[in-house]
Amino acid sequence: MNQLLAQLEQYKKEIETSIVSNKEDLETFRIKYLGTKGLLKTIMGEMKHVPVDQKKEAGQLLNEFKVFVESFYSELSAKMESSESAIKNEIDISLPGHPLPLGSRHPISIVHNKIVSIFQRLGFSVAEGPEIEDDWHNFTALNLPENHPARDMQDTFYISQNPDWLLRTHTSSVQIREMQKNDLPLRIICPGRVYRNETISARAHCFFNQVEGLYIAENVSFADLKQTLYFFVKEMFGEGVKVRFRPSYFPFTEPSAEMDISCLICSGKGCSVCKRTGWVEILGCGMVHPSVLDNCGIDSNKYTGFAFGMGIERITMLTYQVKDLRLFSENDVRFLKQFTQA
Ligand code: DAH
Repeated sequence: MNQLLAQLEQYKKEIETSIVSNKEDLETFRIKYLGTKGLLKTIMGEMKHVPVDQKKEAGQLLNEFKVFVESFYSELSAKMESSESAIKNEIDISLPGHPLPLGSRHPISIVHNKIVSIFQRLGFSVAEGPEIEDDWHNFTALNLPENHPARDMQDTFYISQNPDWLLRTHTSSVQIREMQKNDLPLRIICPGRVYRNETISARAHCFFNQVEGLYIAENVSFADLKQTLYFFVKEMFGEGVKVRFRPSYFPFTEPSAEMDISCLICSGKGCSVCKRTGWVEILGCGMVHPSVLDNCGIDSNKYTGFAFGMGIERITMLTYQVKDLRLFSENDVRFLKQFTQA
C-alpha cells in the first residue's frame, strides 16, 4: 500500500510541475493523464491485481488521485480560456494605432546645428571638452594667471581648491585642450555648455551654451578671421545683414574685437532690442595671443591663429525674437513646440 502511495505522490509532483502554456500542451496533458490509454486508466486497470483485503484502501487512494488529476486539468483549461479571451478582448488588431505626438527640436539645438553645419562647410570639425575643468585650462593657459583682474569678468563656480576644479566659464578651455594635442593645422569649433555664477534674469543665466572657433596654421591673418565671420553671418542671418568690428579686450587674443550685426528687428533703424543703436553684439574674437600658443607648446614664431566665441542663446534670441532667456530652460512645451527651423 505504501508503495502505491509513494507512486501516486510521484505522479502528483510530475503533474504539478508540467508546463502547459498553450492549447496543444493542454491537449497533450489530457491525453497523457486522462485519455483512454492515459495514466489514470492504466492505474485503475492495476486494481484487479490488488489483494482483496487492500482493495478498499487502494480504491480510496486512487479515487483521490483521480479527483486531483481531473480538477488540475479543469483548472488549467479554465486558465487557458480566460487568458485567451483577455487577449481577444484587449487587442483588436483591426483598430487604428494610438497616435504618438511628434516632438520638436529645442530652439537651442536647432541653432546649434545650424552654426555647426555652417562652419563644417568651411572645413571646421567639432571638438568637445569637459564641463568640469581645472583652473589651468579655463584661465591660466588662456593668459589669465592667478589674480589677473580679467578673471572677474566671469563669475566662477569653484568645485574644489586643491586640486582646483571648477565649472568651465567658457568653451575657450577646449581650445587649450585641442592645441595641446599639437596636431596642426587646427580648424575646430567647440560647442558646449558653460556656467557662471550669475543671478538668473531675462538676460542672464547661470548656465548657457557657447560655440568657440579656432584656426591655427602658418600665416593666418585677421583678414581670414573677418572673411570667415562674414561668411558665417551671411549664412546664419541672410545676405542683407551688416557687420562691424569694434576693438575690444580679451586676455587670450591680441588684437581683440567684438563683432556686431545690424539689428534684425529694426534693420538698423533703432529699437528697444538694439537699445536704439541699430547694432547688436554677437561675438568676441581676435588673433590668438602668442603666449597662449606658447602655453600649449606651439611655436608662436611659426604659427598664428584666430579664435572667436559666441553665445548660442543670444543668437537664438535674435533669430526667433525671444525676449527672455529663462524660457529656454523652463521646458514649457507650449514654448518649445513653436520652433521648426532657423
Ligand atoms: N571666452 C569669451 C567669453 O566667454 C568669448 C571669446 C572671446 C572667445 C574672444 C574667443 C575670443 O575665442 O577670441 O566671454
